[in-house]
Amino acid sequence: MDPSNLPLVLVSHTLPDGWLDLLENRCRLLIGPKDANELSDELFTELPNAEGLYSLLTIKVDENLLSQAPRLKVVSNMAVGFDNVDVEACTKRGIPVGNTPGVLTDGTADLTMAILLAAARRLFEANLDAREGRWITWSPTGWLGKDLRGAILGIVGMGKIGSAIAKRAAGFGMKIIFSDPNPHKEIEEKFGANQVSIEDLLEESDFVSLHVPLTKQTHHMIDEGALKSMKPSALLINTSRGPIVETDALINALENDWIAGAALDVTDPEPLPADHPLYQLPNCLIVPHIGSATWNTRRRMAERACENLLAGLEGKRLPFCVNPEVYER
Ligand code: GLV
Repeated sequence: MDPSNLPLVLVSHTLPDGWLDLLENRCRLLIGPKDANELSDELFTELPNAEGLYSLLTIKVDENLLSQAPRLKVVSNMAVGFDNVDVEACTKRGIPVGNTPGVLTDGTADLTMAILLAAARRLFEANLDAREGRWITWSPTGWLGKDLRGAILGIVGMGKIGSAIAKRAAGFGMKIIFSDPNPHKEIEEKFGANQVSIEDLLEESDFVSLHVPLTKQTHHMIDEGALKSMKPSALLINTSRGPIVETDALINALENDWIAGAALDVTDPEPLPADHPLYQLPNCLIVPHIGSATWNTRRRMAERACENLLAGLEGKRLPFCVNPEVYER
């Protein structure tokens, strides 16, 4: 086929060689810059001609963008979360939206355990103290942290990632409780876990780990009231989405010892500006949204996003579609 007849696809960011191989000879690609928090001007100008959009989670796919793209057949988000996409607006326009579940479950669960352990054993403070000359001797009371064995881990949201955390935490001898709108008998049986209300979970847990999608219902789910109801010795772990936690309330909680510490892979806002007060708190570990950041995981996410994109361009059902109702119209 004459390449100029192939459908135009906008890829919001430059990705490593090979990650978009599945798209080769199937469409014309216009690719944005490597690091961008919005669609570049060049790509924005081409929206009227685009049939596909391959987006990362930093790109707001909203009414403003969609109204410029009358030919768009598919939005393929290279992420499991899709709160950056106005799904309702896409559905109204008949545009299926794809995401990449499954392939990042283990990577994200590993990172969650990594920052949970780092917070439990105060690695951030210990590393800083060692580098900055405060390692004077082997102190019997220096940098004392928390044991995992026997500690209660409260998992908020028992989806794929929540279940993968349960499996790992059970290996460390943690007692698991969880909250979720649906029953999960298999998790209760396999790990001796108890399903409880979110209120009980917050009150009883030594570690609270968040694994819910960001929606109107979960926005600021962890607010002042929630933080005050946690144990003063508890740690909060967030590898889901930043706005699930109310940032000002978290700063108050950490400054005033309502809780003992936090480990955050996600923040509100993102990126967190370098002068943000959260960085001043030694009991707060922050990493820059790297839950799925392994070569293998990211490549598989990229491929899954290509598969969704190609299906959408061909008018086929997306293998991983977040708005299946679009097919019922
Ligand atoms: C990462 O946060 C994702 O949603 O894939």
